[in-house]
Amino acid sequence: MSSRKPIKKAVFPVAGLGTRFLPATKAIPKEMLPVIDRPLIQYAVDEAREAGIEQMIFVTGRGKTAIVEHFDIAYELESTMSERGKDMGILEATRATPGDIITVRQQVPMGLGHAIWCARAIVGDDPFAIFLPDELMIGSPGCMKQMVDAYNEVGGNLISVIEVPKEEVFSYGVIDPGAESGALTEVKGLVEKPAVEDAPSNKIVSGRYILQPEVMRTLENQGKGAGGEIQLTDAMARMIGDQPFHAVTFEGKRYDCGSKLGFIEATLALALEREDMGQDVRALAQRLLG
Ligand code: UTP
Repeated sequence: MSSRKPIKKAVFPVAGLGTRFLPATKAIPKEMLPVIDRPLIQYAVDEAREAGIEQMIFVTGRGKTAIVEHFDIAYELESTMSERGKDMGILEATRATPGDIITVRQQVPMGLGHAIWCARAIVGDDPFAIFLPDELMIGSPGCMKQMVDAYNEVGGNLISVIEVPKEEVFSYGVIDPGAESGALTEVKGLVEKPAVEDAPSNKIVSGRYILQPEVMRTLENQGKGAGGEIQLTDAMARMIGDQPFHAVTFEGKRYDCGSKLGFIEATLALALEREDMGQDVRALAQRLLG
């Protein structure tokens, strides 16, 4: 049993504009786009629950109420379905425990770092997890469970990483690696979108974090970074050296559902794995490919 403060809170920044998916995201949040039949946000919340997280903090903005409603009770739907004798399991699995969903507003999307900072009053003095729901992490156990297990060993701050071919690093945050032990790598530095020849490794930061509450104070006095936004990577980079910082190489598959190609890849890969439809999808794909 670990004596560290357990990770019970997670922040889901969902206040971005989702411009890469326009016009789909004009009136619907990107996080509500479904991969097959589950919205992205639900994959992330399920992953959090599996890791023992109880409090889900959504950093939202205008037009994002559907995200919160998704975890509510849908009275009309549930009573009609139960009258008709339909299986309610799918709906019941989406319900949050009363009081466990908290929303804060970002108001203006000033960057991921700013979105996280907006949750400071709810995070308080506790270490917390962060999920970027458009990065779909499929693993068994899930990505956050792997990270929480690592946290119980080493504490401090953790980020999940995956290894990509070196020539692809230029569009990601990349770690400068120190000592390695199993899935854990010490993080000596973070570089955002390096040139391939300057990249310190091929381990890219991928959508899941466990951070100490001090990051809120670091974000507080941080200026704008790349793209005129307040960057989480910049705040984390400033914390390295003051607190333990490790990367956990995720054992599983990561899909970048913030991009159209990644979204299609996720849909196809998950559909092919599904017991209820995998065979049909395979046949369909083969037919389409001629
Ligand atoms: P992205 O970089 O994917 O931006 O943000 P985006 O606005 O969602 O999408 P595009 O690039 O315009 O298509 C990564 C995560 O950070 C959140 C987003 O909602 C997403 O989950 N975010 C980003 C905020 O909550 N606030 C911000 O100011 C910026």
